[in-house]
Amino acid sequence: MLKKFNQFFHPQVNQIDMSFTPFMVNINGNILQVMQATDDNIPDLLVLEEQVYSGHTPWSKFSFASELKKRRNSLYLVVYNASTLVAFVGARFSPEETHITNIAVAPSFQNQHIGRYLMQMMIERARENDSDCVSLEVRTDNEIAQRLYQSLGFKGNFIRKNYYQDTHTDAMNMVLWLKPHQIRRKKFTF
Ligand SMILES: CC(C)(COP(=O)(O)OP(=O)(O)OC[C@H]1O[C@@H](n2cnc3c(N)ncnc32)[C@H](O)[C@@H]1OP(=O)(O)O)[C@@H](O)C(=O)NCCC(=O)NCCS
Repeated sequence: MLKKFNQFFHPQVNQIDMSFTPFMVNINGNILQVMQATDDNIPDLLVLEEQVYSGHTPWSKFSFASELKKRRNSLYLVVYNASTLVAFVGARFSPEETHITNIAVAPSFQNQHIGRYLMQMMIERARENDSDCVSLEVRTDNEIAQRLYQSLGFKGNFIRKNYYQDTHTDAMNMVLWLKPHQIRRKKFTF
């Protein structure tokens, strides 16, 4: 009964397409394989996190495992150069909003437009799924990431104080609107 009720008020949820076909791409001379992440990639994901966050793993093995289970409305992609994980990106999709939950590029592959390529792919995916906007949180002191997002059209929205539990750093919520204001979907609260 509850499921039927939900489907009646949120029929779009069923229309989200999370299928993904792996492919190879050449970015800046790097031959990369892009594929959907599975639990088998978690050890590599943790190593990559340690590399980019100075030994820290803001996302634990359990947070990755739990996110990777949400296949109905989320998409996590890993990018390999031969057997080395060089990047990953994750997002949750809904018709109202696509939220980028995580993105990282290994230090030796940074600044070669891999991050931009992954963001563009997720934005395109959000458009295909008819999302009104793409949002994300970024540390207020992460100027490199903010520059990337701004160059893609994201705008600062509001600050979340003490968002990152380990460092108590603030986060900036950034949004890229995909639809003009007048036709944005209204959110209903019952
Ligand atoms: C943020 C991150 C994902 C960007 O990925 P990337 O592949 O290095 O970025 P790109 O090469 O696609 O660069 C895109 C833009 O970001 C900016 N940028 C990237 N690296 C930069 C650097 N070293 N210095 C200054 N600007 C930089 C530039 O504006 C660049 O655009 P341009 O080359 O056209 O000028 C990557 O730096 C990273 O993994 N950082 C650590 C983890 C992290 O901060 N994740 C984001 C959490 S919100």
